[in-house]
Amino acid sequence: MLANGREEVVKSCVSLPELNAQVFCHSSKNVTKTECCYTDFCNNITLRLPLGLPLLVQRTIARTIVLQEIVGKGRFGEVWHGKWCGEDVAVKIFSSRDERSWFREAEIYQTVMLRHENILGFIAADNKDNGTWTQLWLVSEYHEQGSLFDYLNRGTVTVQGMVRLALSVASGLAHLHMEIVGTQGKPAIAHRDLKSKNILVKRNETCAIADLGLAVKHDSVLNTIDIPQNPRVGTRRYMAPEILEDAMNTSIFESFKRADIYSLGLVYWEIARRCSVGGITEEYQLPYYDLVPSDPSIEDMRRVVCEQKLRPSIPNQWQSCEALRVLARLMRECWRSSGAARLTALRVKKTISQLCVPEGPKA
Ligand SMILES: Nc1ncnc2c1ncn2[C@@H]1O[C@H](COP(=O)(O)OP(=O)(O)OP(=O)(O)O)[C@@H](O)[C@H]1O
Ligand SMILES: [Mg+2]
Repeated sequence: MLANGREEVVKSCVSLPELNAQVFCHSSKNVTKTECCYTDFCNNITLRLPLGLPLLVQRTIARTIVLQEIVGKGRFGEVWHGKWCGEDVAVKIFSSRDERSWFREAEIYQTVMLRHENILGFIAADNKDNGTWTQLWLVSEYHEQGSLFDYLNRGTVTVQGMVRLALSVASGLAHLHMEIVGTQGKPAIAHRDLKSKNILVKRNETCAIADLGLAVKHDSVLNTIDIPQNPRVGTRRYMAPEILEDAMNTSIFESFKRADIYSLGLVYWEIARRCSVGGITEEYQLPYYDLVPSDPSIEDMRRVVCEQKLRPSIPNQWQSCEALRVLARLMRECWRSSGAARLTALRVKKTISQLCVPEGPKA
């Protein structure tokens, strides 16, 4: 068995745009092709997965999990609640069609130093071939309260609860965005699909950011981004104006962080509506619920967000509560049209944490 902490080497096929060159496919008998047969890792690249659990341990864990019930379905397969040695785990099962998504998500989760209390805790990845098809598993911590979207739909939150949720999301995002320099450092990472359905609520009523399958990493030495980016990959409703207009400068990593901040502003609006002050709350709604259809096209979103420059409305009664007032100001500063004018995750985190300072005795 490999020692924990050592680099793991994994082979995987890469698609043509990812390879950025012609593909050499084993099945083509030494003829260079532009397609890959995707069997036996034909056009293989070697990927290094640093610092995860040893692969054999990951596999052993995955193969001793007993699936309990399905808890959700997303674009890339199903999420199950499972039991491993009496512990609750979540298992995201991808179809072999989505092998690249499975691999990418596992790879991002195993980035050195990514672990943080407000980022979903990754446990293991496994690919299981039963002879007929391949099952791709991603095992993570299980959060019985489900997503922030589920949580806000189920009930309201107190002012304190709202601040706790908002601060924890900002902390997770600030960690993701931050580059830590040094051998035990981490690259800056942008999420690219931040939304209430991709944030989980833990038992202690704080959040964990999940679904890192679309994330991109920044190499600050070479100033490169680790995969070619199709800028329009996230969820249309949460896309920043520059993405909707196809005007994002994808060669600057900062652009991706700024687009995440726009989405964060929308998530804060969803949380704030459910905050109960003096018994008044708003019903749960998705951002732009009143302005676009349920599965909006890019064009629907572009018209509202870029052309009409509309944003979710901020109820008057939010002015009567300090925390809501601060959060409303933050939202506006997160969803500005110009990416450069938006706040950073660290700034948002600091502003909210000042709200949390317990009141000292009055002089
Ligand atoms: N670790 C987890 N613990 C508990 N529930 C989870 C966990 N991960 C996901 N879920 C539940 O499963 C649902 C489906 O997740 P998934 O990420 O596959 O899809 P989605 O976020 O709803 O849509 P999308 O495909 O756009 O990301 C989530 O909304 C959440 O309710
Ligand atoms: Mg999701």
